Amino acid sequence: MGAKPETAGTPVLKMQGIDKAFAGNPVVRRVDFSCLAGEIHGLVGENGAGKSTLMKILAGIYQPDAGNVILNGREVAFRNYGEAREAGICVVYQELSLLPQMSVAENIFMGRWRRGRAGLVNWPEIRKEARLALEKVGLGDLDVNRLVSSLPMAVRQLIEVAKALLYEPRAVVFDEPTTTLTGSEAARLFGLMRELRNQGKGIIFISHRLKEILGVSDRITIMKDGERVLTGPAADFDENKLIYHMIGRDLTQIFPKKPVQLPDRIIFSCSAVAPGGGKIEFSVREGEVLGIGGLNGQGQVPFLESIFGLETGAEVSLHGGSRIRVKSPRDAMRVGISLIPEDRNAQSSFPILSIRNNIASASLARLSAAGFLKTWREKRDVRKIAEELQIRMASLSQEVRYLSGGNVQKTVFARWLLASPKVMVLLSPTSGIDVGTKQQIYRLIRELAAGGVAIIVLTGDMVELIGLCDRVLVMYGGRVSGELSGSELTEENIMRTSMGRTGGEGAA
Ligand SMILES: Nc1ncnc2c1ncn2[C@@H]1O[C@H](COP(=O)(O)OP(=O)(O)OP(=O)(O)O)[C@@H](O)[C@H]1O
Ligand SMILES: [Mg+2]
Repeated sequence: MGAKPETAGTPVLKMQGIDKAFAGNPVVRRVDFSCLAGEIHGLVGENGAGKSTLMKILAGIYQPDAGNVILNGREVAFRNYGEAREAGICVVYQELSLLPQMSVAENIFMGRWRRGRAGLVNWPEIRKEARLALEKVGLGDLDVNRLVSSLPMAVRQLIEVAKALLYEPRAVVFDEPTTTLTGSEAARLFGLMRELRNQGKGIIFISHRLKEILGVSDRITIMKDGERVLTGPAADFDENKLIYHMIGRDLTQIFPKKPVQLPDRIIFSCSAVAPGGGKIEFSVREGEVLGIGGLNGQGQVPFLESIFGLETGAEVSLHGGSRIRVKSPRDAMRVGISLIPEDRNAQSSFPILSIRNNIASASLARLSAAGFLKTWREKRDVRKIAEELQIRMASLSQEVRYLSGGNVQKTVFARWLLASPKVMVLLSPTSGIDVGTKQQIYRLIRELAAGGVAIIVLTGDMVELIGLCDRVLVMYGGRVSGELSGSELTEENIMRTSMGRTGGEGAA
């Protein structure tokens, strides 16, 4: 073996016998893990398997209870992330660390301000260096004076990487970086990851999208219940094998069976102002799962938010009742419309409240009698739903901020389920969710539909549109460019209508 550091094949980092427990709950157990120079190492496992915790130990955010971390042949014990970063370990998270109200240049140089002679911040110098840093991630043309809030998520992600690269890391951890990205945006990020790998850096990549993991990784490690199950060359794996080791059983059928024939009864109809002008009229039949597809940013989100009383507010009718205008989320909730937003961490969970309070928060009225919250009833209902969704937690009184990313999402889902909605609008309900739980969520969605809840699902995942939905409205340029169902529901048709080319009979 070549002794030169940073030649491909030499470990950049090694973790040996790592243990970590929180309040007596073991979360990472006797884990050995290494990443070589010049490899992309995929890390997979169910929600709560311990992936992020292991990486936080690597990055000095947590200290291990046992075991050691070896960086370039030397044992290290980082007390915080700053120390790890100086030593060459950087982490890029899905929830980015950029401050939206500051400019790109300011964000890149946050915490490492260059000062000129008079102690003043040297702006021209900062802007110049920011530009150089951005070039490395293919953003050479970006105006560094722009506010981060004005940029799409994909660009923010790349800025985050540019910022990390300033520390000249030997290893970069990407913890679910693609959850909010479209296919082509993710492809761009993978290009960058490969480039960094070819420069001899060690790249660790966490994702629940197994196709991505298989496509981009050189080696793969699978974790389950805090332990490392298996590590091997990516070529030795396929999707089924990954799933088998992740969840400990085969998963042949991810999607539940669709009903062969739906009853004709319309349970929800809606007329919304289309973001691109005109109207979008549609209805949902009993038992039906209606999908909303299309490329990112074609007006899907504002359209669906209007059903929940945001934007211009839609006109709706439930079970053939009279038409009402939904002017606010309050109106929406009163008639039984719920919306599960996409950005779950930021918008819709209460991080410092308990799991129980989070789940019960949308159902307080129903769970109360004469103004008193019926504690026993709340506890019973919350527990039941948490079990159904297999939320991995120490107890119901644990604060939500300590849950793994996927389990926070399940908590939000549980909250809206508990509120027994009549109409559920789900924005990307399974992003960041592991395959085993995805299957449960699909089953749950089917059961809700069969039980008379009108289900509307937005997803960028083609397989999900085809496998889960009975009918799909595809959007392009702020309007519906096609409606597909039954045998028309193919990848090719979805692609074509996504580009704005109408196929078959177009919807209104
Ligand atoms: N600071 C903490 N205090 C208490 N428990 C914690 C803390 N951080 C993580 N945990 C627990 O450790 C377990 C593993 O969490 P981790 O975030 O590592 O999972 P993950 O594999 O990254 O999952 P996901 O795919 O959902 O992101 C979870 O059950 C979580 O609740
Ligand atoms: Mg995680």
